[in-house]
Amino acid sequence: MSGMIWMSWRTCLIRLSVWLTRFHLRQGGCEMSAVVLDPTCGARSMWFDKTDSRAVFTDRRREVITLCDGRVVQVAPEITADFTDLPFPDESFRLVVFDPPHLVNCGKRGWLAQKYGRLVASWEDEIQAGFEECFRVLRPEGVLIFKWSEVQIPLFRVLALTDQRPLFGHTGTAPTTYWMTFMKESKHD
Ligand SMILES: C[S@@+](CC[C@H](N)C(=O)[O-])C[C@H]1O[C@@H](n2cnc3c(N)ncnc32)[C@H](O)[C@@H]1O
Repeated sequence: MSGMIWMSWRTCLIRLSVWLTRFHLRQGGCEMSAVVLDPTCGARSMWFDKTDSRAVFTDRRREVITLCDGRVVQVAPEITADFTDLPFPDESFRLVVFDPPHLVNCGKRGWLAQKYGRLVASWEDEIQAGFEECFRVLRPEGVLIFKWSEVQIPLFRVLALTDQRPLFGHTGTAPTTYWMTFMKESKHD
């Protein structure tokens, strides 16, 4: 019983801290406590703790979707924002995890598009602007983790959309998901 009370207190505290983070961010980031940005949070599937208070979760959509197999996907960003125009001051975060959609040819109503979103026809411009924004809000020497699945578009075409060079990453041989690690280069590099 006392365990249950503690859990509900803990949930309340987490919610309060998320709310405070959002409030500080809206005030212009002067007292910003979040150090991680997930600008394409979707359903936060990759997160071990989906309410981790060190992070701020943004996405351009907010919706609850029931997939064809009955699974319910909840996309509930703390702030609704486009990654091409992020509402944060320069150099706000230590870590950004950028996981944009990777499919351009897929049905609007297919479960992959519904769960992960899909690229617009001018996807190169969009991803390029996304990289620019992610690096803008990242501190110098901050880390950007970029996730990409090569199902339709090869990784090298996407990496060509930023001047920043990845340090290292997972490289497979078959079409697969890549995780690339960047460290924001300082202006003097
Ligand atoms: C591959 S999913 C992210 C999945 C997420 N990392 C997870 O763990 O569940 C890509 C997300 O990017 C969002 N997205 C697509 N274009 C966007 C844009 N221009 N600005 C912000 N979010 C965008 C989609 O709505 C989608 O939720």
